[in-house]
Amino acid sequence: MAGAIAYISRDTDGVAWNKILTEALGPLDFRTIANGLGKTDDIEVALAWKPEPGLLATFKNLRMIVSLGMGVDHLLADDKLPHVAITRIMDDGLVGQMSEYALYWGLWHHRDIERYAASQRAKKWKPEEFVDTIDRRIGIMGLGSIGQDTSRKFAALGFPTAGWSRTAKTVPGVETFHGRDSLAMFLGRTNILVNVLPLTRETRGLLDKTLFAALPKGSFVINMGRGGHVVDEDLLAALNSGQISGAALDVFNVEPLPPNHPYWAHPKVHITPHMAGYTNPRTASPGVIENIKRLRSGRELIHRVDPKTGY
Ligand code: GLV
Repeated sequence: MAGAIAYISRDTDGVAWNKILTEALGPLDFRTIANGLGKTDDIEVALAWKPEPGLLATFKNLRMIVSLGMGVDHLLADDKLPHVAITRIMDDGLVGQMSEYALYWGLWHHRDIERYAASQRAKKWKPEEFVDTIDRRIGIMGLGSIGQDTSRKFAALGFPTAGWSRTAKTVPGVETFHGRDSLAMFLGRTNILVNVLPLTRETRGLLDKTLFAALPKGSFVINMGRGGHVVDEDLLAALNSGQISGAALDVFNVEPLPPNHPYWAHPKVHITPHMAGYTNPRTASPGVIENIKRLRSGRELIHRVDPKTGY
């Protein structure tokens, strides 16, 4: 039998992955943390989500690491990460879920749903001020597959939509900006900011007081990228001053969000527990299966990660 596949995640048990990979590849030596990794020299492929730093370095014959998330910061944070091929899942299902998350909060804010809920509680019939869709400008930071899908969907609803990315990108129907020099211009035209950037050395802490101040007063922020993009004190200050009218946050500097964190009780913060995109084995596995086959037959891998750019 070929080398073992190790499933390294404390969030899910790997049963679904074992079944789906076995159906596609035949009998497997599939190991999990919960069931014991056994003799780790046998491990050829690691499917990993937030592995303990240093763990993967102990797999002496490892040939490929597969990130179980589309983001790979959880791997690159390990300074002992072995120098083997790193790939990541590319999951259309997850991409669609992330877009749903942004659309949900964008529409929730745009159509004043919170105010209507409060009016209902007060048995008050009170139409809120009308804001035309063409006056609600959406700005998506990060134009990888998730940002592109999200921006296309907002644009399809008639919202003027722009995207900002490190390098130049083109998305039909979406105005695009790139590089630090154009960031202020992008922010100045944005009323609902959606962050879906990868977390890298360059993007850590990018959502800080300077960025919030560059948005028009009363903008709404949706963070489904990483908690590390946000300087929490700066966001809290911007919410308290009214510069930012509200924030939907799915990701946090520390996860789970500690019980004493000020976000929990803040009336303008809407918290979800890193659920915007779920790695669904049904939709995420085809690329992983393809890569295991390619690895075993010595062909070039797909969905490779460049550790230098961080995605
Ligand atoms: C989830 O956070 C992912 O990186 O896919």
